[in-house]
Amino acid sequence: MPGAIGFDIYGTLVDPLEMNEHLQPVVGEDLADRFSELWRGKQIEYTFRRALMRKYEDFGVCTRQALVHATNVLGVDFSDEEQEKLIQEYQNLRPFPDVIPGIEALNSKGHTLVAFSNGVEATARTLLDRAGVLEHLHGVISVDDVKTFKPDPEVYHYLARRLGTEPSEIWLVSSNPFDVIGAKAVGLMAAWIQRKPDTQFDPWGIQPDLVAPDLEALAERL
Ligand code: LAC
Repeated sequence: MPGAIGFDIYGTLVDPLEMNEHLQPVVGEDLADRFSELWRGKQIEYTFRRALMRKYEDFGVCTRQALVHATNVLGVDFSDEEQEKLIQEYQNLRPFPDVIPGIEALNSKGHTLVAFSNGVEATARTLLDRAGVLEHLHGVISVDDVKTFKPDPEVYHYLARRLGTEPSEIWLVSSNPFDVIGAKAVGLMAAWIQRKPDTQFDPWGIQPDLVAPDLEALAERL
């Protein structure tokens, strides 16, 4: 039966680790992968900590502060221009190749499709528009409206309120295990997009309702 689906953005629709391409000219090939992973890891850590401490600053601030932290840890000296360019490139991330065909297939089955992200709505819309994904979605819902982050239960309840339906009627689709577990804990159904075969799911005794390697496979199985 058609229902509502909320797609995580970073890691699910676009790949934040692709920032390594923009880091390479500045930090060199050897450090670029490590830098992009540290940057992404810190960005997520900052969202967790800010939600737990109830010291909300939006995802753009978390991204920027995580970038500064990564430069300090790795001893990289960025000019203000280089830093600004990296932040700008964060809105130019490409979609994974399965994203548009997968979303189109789900759309043709009659599902209501929204992006559901930690990202600020305007930033997320710019990113998705440039990636060619926005026009295939019915909306963009941001946790910024409730000033906390995934996996605070409040954000999943907010998604349900915005979609005008019960949590149990909604699918959350995410490559981030913490997002899948967060959604399941509130009673949503959740699909884990296991983009890399060696990625491990957290052993919390909470399993995704569906596991798929990409959105095209998800569309076939949902
Ligand atoms: C998001 C982050 C968690 O898009 O990937 O919400």
